[in-house]
Amino acid sequence: MRPLLVLVIAFQALTSPASAKLDVKNKPQIRATTSFANFDARIMDHWGGGGGATWTISNDSVHPFVGRQFGGAKRKQIAGTRAFGSGYPWDSDNAATLSGRGFPFGTWPIWWGNDFMGTDEYNSTKDTIRPGGQLVTAPVQLIKAGSPFTNATEDEMYYILGDTQSVTFMMISFVTWCHVKPAWPTKFDPLSPNTPIRLENVFQYYRASSFALASTLYNNTFARTSIANSTESSPLPAQVEYSDYRQCVDSVISNALPVMNKPPLVQKKSVTYGIIFGILGIPMLLTAGYLLAFAWYCLSTMFSGPIARVRESADRKARAKAEREAGLAYEAFP
Ligand SMILES: *[C@@H]1O[C@H](CO)[C@@H](O)[C@H](O)[C@H]1NC(C)=O
Ligand SMILES: *[C@@H]1O[C@H](CO)[C@@H](O)[C@H](O)[C@H]1NC(C)=O
Ligand SMILES: *[C@@H]1O[C@H](CO)[C@@H](O)[C@H](O)[C@H]1NC(C)=O
Ligand SMILES: *[C@@H]1O[C@H](CO)[C@@H](O)[C@H](O)[C@H]1NC(C)=O
Ligand SMILES: *[C@@H]1O[C@H](CO)[C@@H](O)[C@H](O)[C@H]1NC(C)=O
Repeated sequence: MRPLLVLVIAFQALTSPASAKLDVKNKPQIRATTSFANFDARIMDHWGGGGGATWTISNDSVHPFVGRQFGGAKRKQIAGTRAFGSGYPWDSDNAATLSGRGFPFGTWPIWWGNDFMGTDEYNSTKDTIRPGGQLVTAPVQLIKAGSPFTNATEDEMYYILGDTQSVTFMMISFVTWCHVKPAWPTKFDPLSPNTPIRLENVFQYYRASSFALASTLYNNTFARTSIANSTESSPLPAQVEYSDYRQCVDSVISNALPVMNKPPLVQKKSVTYGIIFGILGIPMLLTAGYLLAFAWYCLSTMFSGPIARVRESADRKARAKAEREAGLAYEAFP
């Protein structure tokens, strides 16, 4: 029996699909919690594909955004424009304000202070519950100018802006893919006179305006005025526009920035058993076959009454359990 078992396991190992893009054991994730009903939460995955159904924050959650919708956006919808308020796959009917909108990718928009475009409802007082943590920024600078991006100059430096977890995960990916100098995020205060970046410096929004790429080489004079016509913007300096370094940073953000997953598949017991059987099925069947034939012969004659009763009781218990689980499906995930 043993050689067969080894063979089956080896076959499974060879034929299982190539899993993630990278072999990361503890995948970077952000939990978006919106309810006190249980510990289940929707998850935002680095490299995740997004999509799936949206969910509504329930009335009894005492969450500040009760009734609003979360999730549903796909990764390929992640790119916005140079205008704040861009990058919403849905809930963008009123381009002039972000107040009252839902959260297609799981996070809230950036807060620029002074209720700019109705965003005071996402201000720093709510950073304590912002998915991914408070707003931070980090400099994105090459370890060595001109290497490996031949035309990147000494002053070609970018800033990313977003929640703490997203910025930290992105920094790890930049260090890996774009030869960027590691830098820990710092608190972003849009009202501070010392803030390294301002609204005018942003040249690309992502993920429903919850994440931004900026450069002090860029000054978008339309940033505060072109609210309703988000197509207008100052042109990017050629150095930024045609920079292969900038393109590396941009494509890493587009591919890796955490976005909200589909709701989890509620895995039934039968599925788990199915998987176990799929792996060990053949040896189990052979062994069980011999044993059963013998045992059946012995037992069925002796214990037919008790067996029926035991089976009935097990059935009853299974039915009761299924009913209980169906009852608990209320907000199984928020
Ligand atoms: C939640 O509240 C809104 C308005 O406050 C109401 O229209 C809706 O019916 C409520 N939903 C439930 C399930 O109570
Ligand atoms: C944030 O907005 C609330 C109103 O939504 C306001 O009471 C509070 O003072 C604001 N805090 C800051 C830091 O702007
Ligand atoms: C952008 O340009 C305007 C006017 O040209 C200037 O007042 C403003 O300070 C600049 N902003 C930044 C962030 O450089
Ligand atoms: C925005 O577009 C409207 C027409 O749709 C136009 O009247 C208005 O002047 C534009 N605003 C800016 C700031 O360009
Ligand atoms: C930088 O190099 C890339 C190719 O490596 C090229 O497409 C781009 O035009 C260059 N940019 C500048 C400003 O020379």
